[in-house]
Amino acid sequence: MDNFNFYSPTEFVFGRGRENEAGELVKKHGGSKVLVHFGGGSAVRSGLLDRVTASLDKAGVPYVSLGGVKPNPRDTLVYEGIELCRKENVDFILCVGGGSVIDSAKAIAAGVVYDGDFWDFYSGKAVIEKAVPVATVLTIAAAGSEGSGDTVVTQESTGLKRGAGSNALRPRFSIMNPELTCTLPAFQTACGAADIMAHVFERYFTNTQEVEITDRLCEAVLCTMVKEAPRVIADPNNYEARANIMWAGTVAHTNIVGVGRSQDWNSHNIEHELSGLYDVAHGAGLAVIMPSWMEFVMPHNPMRFAQMATRVFGCAMNFENPEATAMEGIRCFRRFLKELGLPINFAELGAKEEDIPVLVEKLGLGDGRTGGFVQLSSEDVAQIYRIAARATV
Ligand code: NZQ
Ligand code: ZN
Repeated sequence: MDNFNFYSPTEFVFGRGRENEAGELVKKHGGSKVLVHFGGGSAVRSGLLDRVTASLDKAGVPYVSLGGVKPNPRDTLVYEGIELCRKENVDFILCVGGGSVIDSAKAIAAGVVYDGDFWDFYSGKAVIEKAVPVATVLTIAAAGSEGSGDTVVTQESTGLKRGAGSNALRPRFSIMNPELTCTLPAFQTACGAADIMAHVFERYFTNTQEVEITDRLCEAVLCTMVKEAPRVIADPNNYEARANIMWAGTVAHTNIVGVGRSQDWNSHNIEHELSGLYDVAHGAGLAVIMPSWMEFVMPHNPMRFAQMATRVFGCAMNFENPEATAMEGIRCFRRFLKELGLPINFAELGAKEEDIPVLVEKLGLGDGRTGGFVQLSSEDVAQIYRIAARATV
């Protein structure tokens, strides 16, 4: 196991009705003027936004609102949010929504206290050192942004989707009421499941030896998803299954399952070009990319994939041919995603094989290589896109 620091300062407030505590929690965490940030309308329609603002009113915390965050959040609204926060002297941002709303809020939070263009953080020109405090009322189990220091934003003019990260962005508190996720369309629930599993796999496929504790934690999250995701698709109001998935989503991405080991993250980088170019859901893009990446890199360490196959998908171990077991595990994963209702190839996602050179170009690897498990070249990435384009179960 490698040396590590683990920093996860977020207060997680979990369970039914907990959104009514938002006002008191903001006060407790030092907020005196709040920006309430939300998405395209689900939180308005469900009445959640009213409950949250009523709770702020009750606690005597003034607020301004900014809605309209789109999935794959855009820089344009971030600029608007930064201006609003400065004008209104906002000192705390409360997000009501999913990863897109939270990531947009994190961008605003870092941008408000930065003299330059906030995009500098996403283009790699500057590092986030401070930010206005952010907190969340989570409405979808997926991105894990409620417990992470990461943010991903799309630049509208270029379609470039880029990430930034800092411990300063880790939410002060995250309210997690699994009931709120019952209104999700089945497709969004499935996208969330794919993203949660991908966050674990990015960490599971490692070159670090002797990491039994984090291997087993990863497998616990993966096994939970294999059991619970089909349950909520079949029975969307199943509170217990929703609750298990919601916590799995957080555990998958606070990095508690990834400490002390090298991590990969190529599937995410390769996927971000798809959601950047076609504006598809991140989880849907991952369902297409992740199993294809697995097929491509499996020869690097068949035993690790065989371990995943046996422990997560219950495949029988073929000791004479571990690669066969490894491939069976990858097939099980792809079949599982398909059964959740997710796309597994370019046509089903709405992507085009002829765009592969554009996708590779946008990734911007040039002659370089990237990845913590297997270092991929631009040609390797093109090959993964080609596998993904034609994948079947
Ligand atoms: O905008 P509204 O109307 O709220 O609708 C949203 C949106 O259309 C809807 N929704 C959310 N909660 C709902 C609901 N509909 C009904 N009932 C509810 N309770 O779901 C749609 C998707 O929402 P979004 O926030 O985009 O989903 P998700 O949480 O999957 O976030 C995706 C974004 O997070 C980024 C992704 O790249 C993508 O941009 N990621 C962020 C990470 C991070 N910050 O740590 C890590 C991830 O790997 C990921 O890259
Ligand atoms: Zn993700």
